[in-house]
Amino acid sequence: MSNIQTILVKSDDPDVTSAVSAALSEAEGFRVIYCRDDRCALRRLEEVEVDMILCDLDPDVPERENALIRSRLAHASCARIVIFGPEMMEEGLAMFERTASFMYLLKPLDPKQLGVVVKRGLEHAELARRHRILSRELKLSLDDEIFGREPGGSVAGGISQFERLVYASPKMAELVAEAKIAARTNMPILIQGETGTGKELLARAIHFNSERMNSPMHSQNCGGVADDALHSELFGHVRGGFPGAISDRLGLFRAADGGTVFLDEVSEISPQFQIALLRFLQEGEVKPLGSDKVMSSDVRIISASNKSLEALVEQGRFRRDLYYRLRGFMLEIPPLRERPEDIPVLTRFFVEKYAGVVGRRVLGVTSEVLKQLENYSFPGNVRELETEVQRMVAVAEQGGYIALRHLSERIRRTRAPERAEEGWMPEGATLKEKVESLERMLVSRKLAEHRWNQSRVAEELGLSRVGLANKIKRYGLRREAGHV
Ligand SMILES: Nc1ncnc2c1ncn2[C@@H]1O[C@H](COP(=O)(O)OP(=O)(O)OP(=O)(O)O)[C@@H](O)[C@H]1O
Ligand SMILES: [Mg+2]
Repeated sequence: MSNIQTILVKSDDPDVTSAVSAALSEAEGFRVIYCRDDRCALRRLEEVEVDMILCDLDPDVPERENALIRSRLAHASCARIVIFGPEMMEEGLAMFERTASFMYLLKPLDPKQLGVVVKRGLEHAELARRHRILSRELKLSLDDEIFGREPGGSVAGGISQFERLVYASPKMAELVAEAKIAARTNMPILIQGETGTGKELLARAIHFNSERMNSPMHSQNCGGVADDALHSELFGHVRGGFPGAISDRLGLFRAADGGTVFLDEVSEISPQFQIALLRFLQEGEVKPLGSDKVMSSDVRIISASNKSLEALVEQGRFRRDLYYRLRGFMLEIPPLRERPEDIPVLTRFFVEKYAGVVGRRVLGVTSEVLKQLENYSFPGNVRELETEVQRMVAVAEQGGYIALRHLSERIRRTRAPERAEEGWMPEGATLKEKVESLERMLVSRKLAEHRWNQSRVAEELGLSRVGLANKIKRYGLRREAGHV
């Protein structure tokens, strides 16, 4: 929710607009935007962060231009109220249901009722927002219970854990070692890595391994949040400090005093906000919106980005001075495809997690499944692996193993050499041996690609069928169980 309570009213009915202006005066702290039609409303929704939309139903507007329907999809946290006359009861109620609106109001509008409903609607949206944050915290603490293991230790079988981060690869071991050093300091930390690599998990692990562990850690996603909203979330605001500030809000910098603030998608903040953040990092001073009292706050900033901030600095889109401030320590989480050693341990870990959650008995995954997972490139990284395992656990037979048929199509179809090829080096001492090893690789790749359709492969490689059969025999190539 934006800090400024902006209400968009879509109506061409003068009775509606006059009731609204009587009910929602600016003095009470509302910024009201009037639009005569849906087209105008849609445009304004794109331009301004709107907290609530009051929509006078117009049955002639086609669905894709309907501001109420569109706002539900594109601006999910914006509260909705539908207005219609008694003669449109049926369509009105249908629209109310369909758009999950907070309330509907019948014409003629009563300004008193309208005022009360709008205020309740806004409070409701704010509670929903807080509820979302708390549920997320709760989910994370449930995770803690499931895996209530010793933090930081090494678990059996070469698997290591840093809080809830599981890994076995040397690359991650190195990163975690660095993270532990960074945790002990008070410096800001910048975590970079592709989506789903575990940036947030690492940030939490750092917090819980720092001296700040007994103070709170608060997270703020900076992506797609308007400046004033971000300002109020982080620095807070005072009641009446600006139109729509119904009550005080303690910003996260103050709420996390003594602890950590995690700024996710930090690359997305505007040039103006970059200045505000830089100032905070330099002075540690917090001035809530609408207040002239300056307060101080001692928090450590951990920020995360899936874009390279350095590249943004080069392009002039991110302040260099801020970049240097943020990267007291810089931790880069490698993508999952660069640390395949982590795939088996993560898979086992997630099987255990989800089998526990849904109360299913799954014995494990077959080695073919593991192999196939290791061959896949995981553009969505660990998150994608986690979702895949979660799905497989749900569809696997009770008491059985997760087998190839449980894998989703895109992973089942990955061909083994695809990735191996990158680092592929011919084997053998002599040129002849090296050439043969290359030939073996090429033939086996083609066979896998065409699922052992030998006529196709022979044709594509310019061999006769007998010639291909000879090579298959000579190199001992066999069709793998997974390739049906
Ligand atoms: N090493 C790991 N061990 C266990 N779980 C992991 C690990 N890495 C990531 N995960 C899990 O993968 C999911 C994604 O992790 P997280 O949200 O930390 O990624 P992210 O880098 O912040 O992603 P995004 O850039 O999309 O925000 C989470 O459910 C997290 O628990
Ligand atoms: Mg994240």
